Amino acid sequence: MTSKEIRQAFLSFFESKSHQIVPSAPVVVKNDPTLMFTNAGMNQFKELFLGEVQAQYSRVTDTQRCLRVSGKHNDLEEVGIDTYHHTLFEMLGNWSFGDYFKKEAISWAWELFTQVYKLDTDRLYVTIFEGDQSEELTKDVEAYDLWKSLIAEERILLGNKKDNFWEMGETGPCGPCTEIHYDMRPDQERQAIPGQELVNGDHPQVIEVWNLVFMQYNRLKNGTLESLPAKHVDTGLGFERLVRAIQGKTSNYDTDVFQPIIQFIASKSQIEYGADEKTDIAMRVLSDHIRAVSFAIADGQLPSNNKAGYVIRRILRRAVRYGYTFLGFKTPFINELVPLLAEQFTGVFDELHQQQSFVQKVVLEEEVSFLRTLTIGIQRFETFAASHDKVDGDFAFELFDTYGFPIDLTELLSREKGLQVDMDGFRRALQQQKERSRAATAIDTSDWVIVSQGDQTDFVGYDKLEAMTQILRYRKISSKGNDQYQLVLAVTPFYAEGGGQIGDSGSLVSFTGEEIYVTDTKKENGLIVHFVNELPAVLQGDFKAVVDKAKRIDIESNHSATHLLHAALKEVLGEHVNQKGSLVNASVLRFDVSHFAKITADEIARIEDIVNHKIRENIVLNEQRSIPYRQAIDSGVTALFGEKYGEFVRIITLGETFSKELCGGTHVSSTGQIGYFKIISESAVAAGVRRIEAITGTHAFAVIKEQFDLVASMRELLNNPKDFIAAISKFISENAELKKEVENNIKERTLSMRADLEAKIEIVNGVNFLAATVDLPNADSVKMLAYAIKGEIDNLFLVLGADFDGKPSLIVAITDSLAKERGWNAGAIVKNLAKDIQGGGGGQPFFATAGGKNSKGLPQAIARAKEFLT
Ligand code: SER
Repeated sequence: MTSKEIRQAFLSFFESKSHQIVPSAPVVVKNDPTLMFTNAGMNQFKELFLGEVQAQYSRVTDTQRCLRVSGKHNDLEEVGIDTYHHTLFEMLGNWSFGDYFKKEAISWAWELFTQVYKLDTDRLYVTIFEGDQSEELTKDVEAYDLWKSLIAEERILLGNKKDNFWEMGETGPCGPCTEIHYDMRPDQERQAIPGQELVNGDHPQVIEVWNLVFMQYNRLKNGTLESLPAKHVDTGLGFERLVRAIQGKTSNYDTDVFQPIIQFIASKSQIEYGADEKTDIAMRVLSDHIRAVSFAIADGQLPSNNKAGYVIRRILRRAVRYGYTFLGFKTPFINELVPLLAEQFTGVFDELHQQQSFVQKVVLEEEVSFLRTLTIGIQRFETFAASHDKVDGDFAFELFDTYGFPIDLTELLSREKGLQVDMDGFRRALQQQKERSRAATAIDTSDWVIVSQGDQTDFVGYDKLEAMTQILRYRKISSKGNDQYQLVLAVTPFYAEGGGQIGDSGSLVSFTGEEIYVTDTKKENGLIVHFVNELPAVLQGDFKAVVDKAKRIDIESNHSATHLLHAALKEVLGEHVNQKGSLVNASVLRFDVSHFAKITADEIARIEDIVNHKIRENIVLNEQRSIPYRQAIDSGVTALFGEKYGEFVRIITLGETFSKELCGGTHVSSTGQIGYFKIISESAVAAGVRRIEAITGTHAFAVIKEQFDLVASMRELLNNPKDFIAAISKFISENAELKKEVENNIKERTLSMRADLEAKIEIVNGVNFLAATVDLPNADSVKMLAYAIKGEIDNLFLVLGADFDGKPSLIVAITDSLAKERGWNAGAIVKNLAKDIQGGGGGQPFFATAGGKNSKGLPQAIARAKEFLT
């Protein structure tokens, strides 16, 4: 079977068991502070397991793209070195939400493996949870007995909490699991050492392929386990490992999932795959990492300098560095893999194919800039190595941190120079940095405290800005020494940050009259959480929730204008522009779009024109709630990449043929309320992404007023001319002419002074000496005078002083040959003389200047000059 057939067979098998096939969630996670990337198939169903959201289908199946590169599940350092870990991998899964449990999950897994995939039962082993006393969890006898009816008993092994109790993270849904392992060793080896002894032993040929988790607990912050409202099944089958088992390969990279890409890399580098361990690892790294990077970008996460963006940047840099060091790719190459990958995933994850040129361009730009950094870093290393006999930990860390050098690159370069790297020092520096960043970002969240029954919030904020409500639960969150509380309410008019629109603020008024300020509203997992700085004295009873109305109106004006802008951008720049991010708050709207050139002033003017036209048309908002996703897409709405839409969506239409978007935000009831739209900036944010900032409504009005006032005061300064521009141009050209005249005057005066001064030169100790103060308006003219005299008189020692409106200055000029011959230094002399004017200065041996604060000291400085000759 090809990998495509293997994937399809999985989905069809579970479809035949009444499972609904659902799409993969994006790999980039939003709305969950505990997770940056999807790291398991179950992430998108977390709320269903916790019972916070009702499941639409009780059985589903899918292939989920996952990234295990940060947090609890992190495989990054193994990737490429071994043959069965990946950054991005596909996890095939079947789920039961409160429907079937262990019996069906186990027997279907067995049926699929033995009947459909026809895997060798002789190579299969299973593990079950042995129990854990400290957690008061008993052995999973039920799973054991179920397996006993399917597989020889000696193939059922007991596993501890680490291997057979699956947890998503520090907190969250969890439960005992049973894993299926496959032994891919040749017969001879299998006879010599039984597979039982190698299961979970990090043997590259005896590996876990499928994990069936029986979700029945929620791990709380305080470490205890709480039973979930219902029992669920979560299975994760590693697609790339499965393909390897079925195709009988000894490495995931030898399957048709990776080989096309590896062979392309091999042909470009002109190195054969399989020729050498080092170059093989590099090819595996490249072929793996490009998958993670491409899908992260396609799902909306651009490489950047912090958080998720930084993780992506580091993965790409790891690939660039392996390519550079081991495969000789000194110029950008990795971006060329994007089209291959897009083609491979067409029909599976179409997001990549649809944004292929954008993704490729972003990767290319990252490569270009990192290769530049790498080159500078290598120069830095060369300079360091030339003057040191060992590489200390701090320097290795600087290379790592500033130039993106992984430690093995530093070791490699050092070895070539015969230098040792202080690894302990490096690890210390790394550890210190980790602690610094952990302290900077750590957010401590306590467990929820239940106030009243229920965990579903009724959101009424599309229709109302006030509502009566009760507090359902609260918890404390602490970050950098600041405490806040999060509240979940029974009913809320507060919009939770989402789709670029910031969360509402406002207040909660209790029945006793106490008022608590709500600083922000966010969505976390399935919950709408309200942030408050203090808890009300009485938590029970009714509260009136009131949204800050003026702020909300400004936000809505900006949000609706964003939709109009999006449509206008497509009209003016072309259909290729896609939204790459947006921010809508009360004062400004920010919109990022994929577009490869600067948006010209003319295009900006046209875009503004279209949007303002639509505002004046006063189009009435058409808001449709709960439209089936498919129906919405078929009607031609604009949907965003990297956004996880539910089964039912909300459509915001502003002009049937103009703007139709899937959106959860709040909007004006007709476009006239926006008032006016003005773009205030256009810039680049990343390769192929332009950013537009604009203002509307009251803010646009304030800015326009400010501009009018500015022009009015400028006109007034020029006595209100009829033609303002002509008046200003005249003013400027007159000013330029006057300036020229003044300069000529000064020049004439300076040159006429020269003759008088030269007449005063005396010969002291065989040197032509002159020290004098002159009356000139600026430093340039004094300098010109000094150079003029120096150009005429040989063997000269000249000191000139001048006072520019209370700012004294000195110049010392010495004929070059004289300075050399006698070892005099104008810089040192001027420094000494400047003491009299309370100043300092310097320059070269033959010419130096100084400035000071005390003009009264000038005569003394001039008088002292002669001392230097005697
Ligand atoms: N949640 C389990 C895992 O990620 C099974 O899907 O391994």
